[in-house]
Amino acid sequence: MDRDQLAEHLAFAAELGVTGVSRDPAWRTRAESLVLSPEPVEGSKDEHPVVFSKTAAEALAALRAYIGDCTRCKLHTLGRTQVVFGVGNPEADLMFVGEAPGGDEDVQGIPFVGRAGQLLTKIIEAIELKREDVYIANVIKCRPPQNRNPEPDEVETCEPFLFRQIDAIKPKVIVALGKFAAQALLRTDAPISRLRGRVFEYRGSKLVPTFHPAYLLRNPSSKREVWEDMKLVRSLLKSEV
Ligand code: URA
Repeated sequence: MDRDQLAEHLAFAAELGVTGVSRDPAWRTRAESLVLSPEPVEGSKDEHPVVFSKTAAEALAALRAYIGDCTRCKLHTLGRTQVVFGVGNPEADLMFVGEAPGGDEDVQGIPFVGRAGQLLTKIIEAIELKREDVYIANVIKCRPPQNRNPEPDEVETCEPFLFRQIDAIKPKVIVALGKFAAQALLRTDAPISRLRGRVFEYRGSKLVPTFHPAYLLRNPSSKREVWEDMKLVRSLLKSEV
């Protein structure tokens, strides 16, 4: 990013009410001032500006405005209707991360509203929370054609926005839904059967991979493992750290 582009980004952030810009870790405290940007991920081409805002809700709104009607990767030419940013409580202790929007999500602009989403709502309710209590997002924000897997260039372009969502919300626990989200976040190719049910340190949160609800629709017997994972999530939410 050159100086002019940076100046343009910062002017835009100022218009959105962003109150300052700094890499000082002291800025990273929720409620006082809030960082949208992670440290750049090693090896990634993440060049988006570091911006700060007073609350998580403001930070998410600024990020959503910054993303705009995104044309940064090829998915905007491949039939997606709109960006599906994320939904829920900006102050959530629990965040779910899926793979990418499907057909219903692409139409409604909200993640996890189709059949898999209805099952996710039941999973959330099983630990005595409501959908509105948690935050739900995907690794990539636009629907891939025919719901194919996201491609590496699409993930590389889009995942910095998920990182900023995580850093804005600062959830205690992140549940990675399915192989794709777990492998993308943890930078591993280990199978989901090996990753699920374990707790990983992740950007200041605890990350628990579990099976994707769409997989559960095809393999209902795996609901037992997901219930075990959700009990683990519940105990992490109740713990001090
Ligand atoms: N599957 C996902 O991974 N995300 C959605 O939003 C819907 C289905």
